[in-house]
Amino acid sequence: MDNRPIGIMDSGVGGLTVARVLHERYPKESMIFLGDSLRNPYGERTRDEIARFAGEIKDFLIKKNVKMIIIACNTISFNVYPSFLEGPVPVVKMSLDITLPEGTKKAGIFATPASIRTHAHKKYVEKKFPEVEWVEVPCDGVAAAIEQGKDENFISALVQKAAKEYHALGIDAGYWACTHYPLAPSAFARVFPKVPFIDPALPTVEAGMAILQREDRLAEGKDRDEFYFTDGLAHAEPLVKRLFGPAAVEKTNLVGE
Ligand code: DGL
Repeated sequence: MDNRPIGIMDSGVGGLTVARVLHERYPKESMIFLGDSLRNPYGERTRDEIARFAGEIKDFLIKKNVKMIIIACNTISFNVYPSFLEGPVPVVKMSLDITLPEGTKKAGIFATPASIRTHAHKKYVEKKFPEVEWVEVPCDGVAAAIEQGKDENFISALVQKAAKEYHALGIDAGYWACTHYPLAPSAFARVFPKVPFIDPALPTVEAGMAILQREDRLAEGKDRDEFYFTDGLAHAEPLVKRLFGPAAVEKTNLVGE
């Protein structure tokens, strides 16, 4: 048994889509969430910048005495250097282990430019589903628009533009390889009215919880959840309250703490 909280990190509000799965499936676990909204979007940054910022978030969470860290961000997961996964607590990346609807012929990987640049998702799913034609769709500006709480019209126009440019309009399944995207399902549905989208939040949470289970470190009861953002509280706070009910939401400077 280990009642310490689980740390969850993202470049902003997107990681809440992973936190909500943890909250629903493991209500006894406490969470400390850090969203680096001030420096969002990470997906349009260099690998070195992403790795440096992620290191600062990791330090912040470790100082908060978390028992495990879930990287609720694809961009961070596939841009950090291998040493990022080492340290005093287990660090879990976004899962690539998605399932697809039967009969899928052509599927799109929707992600930030920095994630697509790594081709991590494509390499994995091409092996798992060799019969499927995979197309990578770097979605410029989409995560930032969701972070800033832009409206559905604005977001769907960006999705439409990317889908057209990367020849993804004829897909029959989509992979949300950015944790911000499941916060805007209707913007995607406007462009792809009948296409199912797959969210890897559940396999990610299950991968982390399997580690704790193995080590006999599940919590016996929740203490409290804490949500920190480096900016953008006007958007983040109501979103946290909508998804998690009353919870502590605070602004932090992150660096230098
Ligand atoms: N939520 C992040 C992801 O899963 C990235 C958003 C961004 O900062 O660009 O990739």
